[in-house]
Amino acid sequence: MNEHAPIQTNNLEAFWMPFTANRQFKKAPRLLVGAKDMHYTTADGRQLLDATAGLWCVNAGHCRPKITEAIATQAGQLDYAPAFQMGHPKAFELAARLVSIAPDGLDHVFFTNSGSESVDTALKIALAYQRVRGEGSRFRLIGRERGYHGVNFGGISVGGIVNNRKMFGTLLTGVDHMRHTHDPERNPYPKGATEHGAELADDLLRIATLHDPSTIAAVIVEPVAGSTGVLPPPKGYLQRLREICDQHGILLIFDEVITGYGRMGTPFAADYFGVTPDIMVTAKGLTNGVIPMGAVLVRDEIYDAFMGGGENLIEFAHGYTYSGSPIAAAAGLATLDTYKEEGLFERAQALEPVWADALHSLKGEPHVIDIRTIGLIGGVELEPIAGAPTKRAFAAFLDAFENGLMIRTTGDIIAMSPPLIVSEAQIGEIVDTLRAVLRRLQ
Ligand SMILES: Cc1ncc(COP(=O)(O)O)c(C=O)c1O
Repeated sequence: MNEHAPIQTNNLEAFWMPFTANRQFKKAPRLLVGAKDMHYTTADGRQLLDATAGLWCVNAGHCRPKITEAIATQAGQLDYAPAFQMGHPKAFELAARLVSIAPDGLDHVFFTNSGSESVDTALKIALAYQRVRGEGSRFRLIGRERGYHGVNFGGISVGGIVNNRKMFGTLLTGVDHMRHTHDPERNPYPKGATEHGAELADDLLRIATLHDPSTIAAVIVEPVAGSTGVLPPPKGYLQRLREICDQHGILLIFDEVITGYGRMGTPFAADYFGVTPDIMVTAKGLTNGVIPMGAVLVRDEIYDAFMGGGENLIEFAHGYTYSGSPIAAAAGLATLDTYKEEGLFERAQALEPVWADALHSLKGEPHVIDIRTIGLIGGVELEPIAGAPTKRAFAAFLDAFENGLMIRTTGDIIAMSPPLIVSEAQIGEIVDTLRAVLRRLQ
């Protein structure tokens, strides 16, 4: 920076914004300056109803007192503790609490700072585990088309979004992809898991046969694909993946960054679908999105496999300066307390049919070609404008923003995931506003 340049507090140029059309934004900024419960406050003083829980993360709603107080108290008590060869009580307490709400068998937790870091951590655990148990020939990682696993190199390698991959060279080697399960012709307007497509899990078998199962370390999927437009899995699909993994010594990784912490009306999607992975990747709702934190949960056998060798040796050469940091751990504990005390997972479960019916009432509105709901997640897919993909949905996003509603778009799909404190009246408001937006769209 030029040291003589005047500091301009309203200069938007310096910040290179993530996943944002920077030039478009900076011409007409959408700045948020406050938030409480279900609403954001914009810089021009308007209230926005939050239909996206921030970025799928503020599951308990905004600025919840227990969480903000826990953060403030922790910051004044123990601000930071080294994460390597040292510890502090709250990280252990949070790990134990997570294990207590996780599916049986997922008994150990590795802390990170984001979903992307959790994904790369999980992939590294999978590769290293295969090696420490004497199966070092298993070096391949299998992902899926339309998968989103964050933006680090491991995640984009197993992910299946072309734009997130094409600029970044060779990525990880030894990666293959199953086909995605999105089939709107056979599964139009689904509520919950779709009827058709369980057989697509056999893609894993096909890939395992091609490369030989003895070369495959792990497969990673989102139980419900979120970022590519809310794609519920076919009934029986995840069960079939589990079977194939068991038959062939392949680890099953669920990326629950979006689906975890009550989003499905259960603690995790693993509970919703009744399928337990070997490794579960989480972040976002773990701290209500307030402080960056992720957690990777693993089965006992995986943790135990690393615990051989000399006791003074570091068993797994991996970790972050902020793994389990005190303020994040305090936020995590207060978040889990809030979920429990307010019964928010049960609340989401009770609201699932209300949410589904409300969103599906948009069927037949202009431009709508599909609607998909599961848990407290919903996608409304719009017919793209010929020759201008994404333009129509982005116009919907801008119109909604101007009219008091925060939605998200991905491609030509409107994706929504309100905080679990959303009321039935607010669900009605979301749908009414969206209906009006759709009727105004070109
Ligand atoms: C399924 C999934 N995995 C990973 C990530 C990446 O998380 P983060 O942005 O915290 O790195 C996301 C983010 O939306 C996600 O939806």
